[in-house]
Amino acid sequence: MSTKRIAPSILAADFANLQRDIEMVNQSEADWFHIDIMDGVFVPNISFGMPVLKAISQHATKTIDVHLMIVDPDRYIQTFADLGANVLTVHYEACTHLHRTLQAIKAAGMKAGVALNPHTNVSLLEDVIQDIDLVCLMSVNPGFGGQSFIENTYDKVKKLKALITEKGAATEIEIDGGVNDKNAKALVDAGADVLVAGSFVFRSENPIKTIQNLKTIVS
Ligand code: DX5
Ligand code: ZN
Repeated sequence: MSTKRIAPSILAADFANLQRDIEMVNQSEADWFHIDIMDGVFVPNISFGMPVLKAISQHATKTIDVHLMIVDPDRYIQTFADLGANVLTVHYEACTHLHRTLQAIKAAGMKAGVALNPHTNVSLLEDVIQDIDLVCLMSVNPGFGGQSFIENTYDKVKKLKALITEKGAATEIEIDGGVNDKNAKALVDAGADVLVAGSFVFRSENPIKTIQNLKTIVS
């Protein structure tokens, strides 16, 4: 039985039918809800904030994986814990004191994640990898759904996996952006544990089946 996980990105859901789309994910074989929070400063787009996350967590029955694309995320760690986040991921590029931020996330009772932009080298995590529960490798430039997968990601997954093994860490690897049925297998073969999929799931004719298909591919 594979432990590989699929995390539909709610950014691609129909916000006029949000409860319906949340129920779809609840009923599906998906493992996590991936929630993208964008502030219009760290990334050039604004997604949604606390009231929407509150509504999502009231209906979601699976792990809530929050991806913060915001500057100065330390200000909101406790707020996201209170809103029901189970995994809280901050961007390496947005944290001056990453080690401290990771400890604060854990102290608030959540798993601590770090996301890397496509240009950020995985070796920069060498001295902090043991403190990270999840590394999210961005396989598109963050800010928008529906972009094309950056092929260099496969090499980054392999390098990161080697670093995790070398350090004896228990860190999981998540891939975010442009994931589909063409690249899913190669990503898990390279070492990925969690695949985020937004538009590939929500723009498909039958999202439940699309999730099932992705789950089969990674098993
Ligand atoms: C991008 C977000 C992603 C996005 C993925 O900034 O972090 O989670 O929603 O969407 P797709 O799968 O459409 O690339
Ligand atoms: Zn994301």
